Amino acid sequence: MNQSLPYATSLPLVVDEVSLAAPGAGEVLIEIKAAGICHSDLSVVNGSRPRVMPMVLGHEASGIVREVGQNVAEVAVDDHVVFSFVPVCGLCKFCIAGRAALCERGARANVAGELLSGAKRFTNNLGQVCNHHLGVSAFSQFTVAAQESLVKIDKSLLFESAALFGCAVMTGVGAIFNTARVAAGTSVAVFGMGGVGLSAVMGARAAGAFPIIAVDVLEDKLDLAKEVGATHAINAKETDAAAAIKDITDGGAENVFESVGSETVLVQAYNSTRRGGTTVTLGLPAPDKMLMIPAVSLVAEERKILGSYMGSAIPRRDIPKYIAMFQAGLLPVDKLHTHTLKLDDINVGFDRLNRAEAVRQIVTF
Ligand SMILES: NC(=O)c1ccc[n+]([C@@H]2O[C@H](COP(=O)([O-])OP(=O)(O)OC[C@H]3O[C@@H](n4cnc5c(N)ncnc54)[C@H](O)[C@@H]3O)[C@@H](O)[C@H]2O)c1
Ligand SMILES: [Zn+2]
Ligand SMILES: [Zn+2]
Repeated sequence: MNQSLPYATSLPLVVDEVSLAAPGAGEVLIEIKAAGICHSDLSVVNGSRPRVMPMVLGHEASGIVREVGQNVAEVAVDDHVVFSFVPVCGLCKFCIAGRAALCERGARANVAGELLSGAKRFTNNLGQVCNHHLGVSAFSQFTVAAQESLVKIDKSLLFESAALFGCAVMTGVGAIFNTARVAAGTSVAVFGMGGVGLSAVMGARAAGAFPIIAVDVLEDKLDLAKEVGATHAINAKETDAAAAIKDITDGGAENVFESVGSETVLVQAYNSTRRGGTTVTLGLPAPDKMLMIPAVSLVAEERKILGSYMGSAIPRRDIPKYIAMFQAGLLPVDKLHTHTLKLDDINVGFDRLNRAEAVRQIVTF
């Protein structure tokens, strides 16, 4: 897809009735209650993250189990669930090694727009089979998902809050705890205060990092960052962010995170990292973008660059843990929720995200 702006006029997402086949073996029918709009959805719409079309988009959601297929043992009817945007097969070499975010079968199914079983359950009114988005397809009243895509959650949680744990929180907080393993008292800088970056700031605060430096190009995003735990805020439009971070931290932060999705911002993040420090990249630039850094600096300065997909999470271990931390007041996740909208307004929501005027917009059903 690569539709013209505004999306409210070009309508990249069509809201229509589709038919949904019953769940097969190991599959579950879920009524979606809340679905967040993530930048990765926008990247499908603007073509920077190409996917097989047509597709029922959306990958950050919560809902209620309404029906289970044969051999479903992990969830039952009436359970409340959050989706993991990588189905975790539990059997492949990555799952066995504790690297659920890299699940081989899950990645293959996601690229193909299939459920873990290889099935596709949506058909549009032209008779075309529609692809699943990351095994979730959240922008729909009902969806069918593999049980391996589901994490059962505490029923006391509001669906609008719960949805955020499926992508923004698992990714941002997971990058702090799992990918970088940020130690208390070490310095953190985060570029990009969207849902993912703000979650990283919250995670850094919960980890006891200091200082925590937020970087964005918009003042309101920086204000929000301070509300959720940043000790310093830098507007990269007005200030040389790398120089300012080096100044605050006496030579660069020990842990620097890029959550914009820009290879040029990733270079800035690298340049803001201390000798011996770690640069973590969470953003997803288009596949043709290359990273240019001095190769020798990795050796001479003992630098590390780590990629972090889905927060290097094990969803069934980490989502309940982060929910419990939220309930205990340690992760102010609700601050991510800036807008609530109905499915009919989803293209307006994509315009708003494209203008960086929203953090998480939640579609409710
Ligand atoms: N690694 C993963 O598993 C994973 C999961 C979800 C999202 N993502 C990716 O993470 C990125 C962020 O997602 P999001 O939903 O938080 O996005 P978002 O659009 O909500 O936030 C991006 C933020 O970056 C800011 N920004 C733009 N240009 C900037 C610059 N030059 N310097 C500093 N800040 C700048 C914007 O103002 C905005 O606040 C995207 O690339 C998305 O595809 C990755
Ligand atoms: Zn996402
Ligand atoms: Zn696996």
